[in-house]
Parts: sequence; structure tokens; C-alpha cells
Amino acid sequence: MTRPKTKILVDGGDPQETRRIQELLGFVDGQTTNPSLIAKNPHIKELITSGHKLSNREEMDEYKKIVQTISPLVGDAGVSIEVFSDEKTTAQEMFSQGQEMFSWIPNAYIKYPCTAEGLRAAQNSVKQGMRVNMTLCFSQQQAAAVYAATKGTKEPAYVSPFVGRLDDIGQNGMDVVKNIKRMFSKGDGHVLVLAASIRSLEHLLYCFALQTELATVPAKTLELWASKNFPTPDNQFQYKAPGKSIPYEELDLEQPWERFDIQHELTRKGIEKFAADYRATLSRIAEREERKTKAPQTQMGTSGFPRPSLSSGRRRQLPADDPGAII
Ligand code: E4P
Repeated sequence: MTRPKTKILVDGGDPQETRRIQELLGFVDGQTTNPSLIAKNPHIKELITSGHKLSNREEMDEYKKIVQTISPLVGDAGVSIEVFSDEKTTAQEMFSQGQEMFSWIPNAYIKYPCTAEGLRAAQNSVKQGMRVNMTLCFSQQQAAAVYAATKGTKEPAYVSPFVGRLDDIGQNGMDVVKNIKRMFSKGDGHVLVLAASIRSLEHLLYCFALQTELATVPAKTLELWASKNFPTPDNQFQYKAPGKSIPYEELDLEQPWERFDIQHELTRKGIEKFAADYRATLSRIAEREERKTKAPQTQMGTSGFPRPSLSSGRRRQLPADDPGAII
């Protein structure tokens, strides 16, 4: 196989799957995870099916175990770990979680959403030398904001345009990837494009043709690629756009990030879905406490999660570092 220039990451939440792909391809450059993928991890699914819902701390610990198992299996594109956030989560709360997650493995990238709070958290993170991956990116303006917010980073930052979800609403998702690449060709190279929400072999081949720096791909698409003997696009390759084209915008990357229009309906919906999938794994008390994050009397745990009030609910004696465990 001629190894493509585009680094290949596995988009998943199951170390066994990463190992399988590693054996199939002979390499895996990196891994991306998110709350929905973690909720689908076989061990977590088994816990939930057997009636055990997790505390916030248990959820974090499970997530940590998963990424610690994946970490040594992948190359230098690292493992992206996503903070848990909803529409009310502040930059400081995201950053606290990010700091904890960054300490889990030596090759972590912290995923923050492309929102004002996520960008603030990222700005702070890169100042502290943390690597970031800005997720739920659906527009060139959001990518420009990522560029501006992460300027000065010591290590490359990633931005993840979500191709498949744009296709789903009748647009040509790959246009966003193409437009961001074109825009960044005028920049200083500190942000790398990580094509995400890849759903087909055509998406993957077009990423190769565009020479996106990275692409995160579900195992089943990588298996399909392998079954066809690892094709790469030739000069005749033409991408069959599935939806309406998205025009290129002339943007000035030197502006402060606050000047860009970062609103996108799919970013809002994406956060909502990640939060719902995360909450579905939580015990009722942990879920209630997680929703109360903004309540003034809430004491924050070290990870940016709220500490449940010990007077509520029936609970066993908890170790000090296990603020949310219940029976
Ligand atoms: C990766 O970082 C993303 O979380 C993932 O690619 C989303 O893909 P989906 O749109 O298929 O859920």
C-alpha cells in the first residue's frame, strides 16, 4: 500500500476496533473520540444494559481508561478527547476538563466545540501549551475563528470540518474542507485540517486528492478501503458532489476571532446530541447534578463537573475523589 499523505485517524471509542484497524492497515496515525462514540463503547454499553448508570466521576474514569488503551496504538496524530459540554458550559468549565484530560495521555488533543466558549477555552489552552482539536466546524468563518484564536500555539492545532452532517442537509460538505484548505494556504500553517464526519470511500479519496493533513474515518469505511486494496485518487478523480455547493469566502485571517460569524445551526445541534448521549450514560442523580452546573450554590469538582449535594438521594459512603458515585 502507498501510504497517503493524509494522516488517518480512527473515528471511534473502542480500543479493540483501533487494534483491528491497526492490524488491517499496518498503521493508525491517530484517533478521535466524542461523547456519542464513548457511549457506544462495548464496556459502557454493557454497564448501561445491566442497569448500572455512571456517576460523572465514573464516566470520566471510563473515558480515561479507553483513551489510555488507545494512546499507545496510534502514531503522532494523537488521540482527541472531547470535553463534555452543553449550551450553558462556560469556557472555564471546558478548560478545567480539558486540563484534566490532557494529563491522561502524552499524545492528547483536547476537543472543544466551535462556539465562543469553546474558542475561549482553546485560546487559554494553547497559551498553556495544550494541543487542541476544534470540533463541530461547519463553516469557513468558524475555521477562520479557530485560526485567529489559536495563533501563537507551539504545536499545530486541528480544526474538524464535519463533512457528512453537511451532506445530510443537502450541502456539499467537502466544499467546506476545500475552502478551509484554500483559506489556510495564505496563513502561517499553525492550524491543520482534520476532515471529520467521513461517511464514504468517496469522501476519503477526495480528502487524499485535496491533501487534507488529516482525516478521521469510521472503521467500516477503512475496512471498505482495505477490501478494495487501498485505492488512491488518480489525476482523473472527480468527486461527485452530493449537494449544493458552498461558495468560498474571502476572509482576513488576521482579524480577532470575535469578528467572525461563528454561528451554525449544526454546531448547536451537535452539542445537543453529544450532551444527550453523555447524559444517557449517567445515573439520575449524576444527570440532575450535571444539569445544575450553572446553579450558584453548585461547588465545582476538579474536572469542571458539579459536585452533587451529599444530602440528596440514597448513596453509599463515597471516597473523596468519587463525588458522584451512587447506588
Ligand atoms: C470526529 O471528530 C467527529 O466526532 C465525527 O467524525 C463525527 O462523525 P458523525 O457526523 O458521523 O457523527
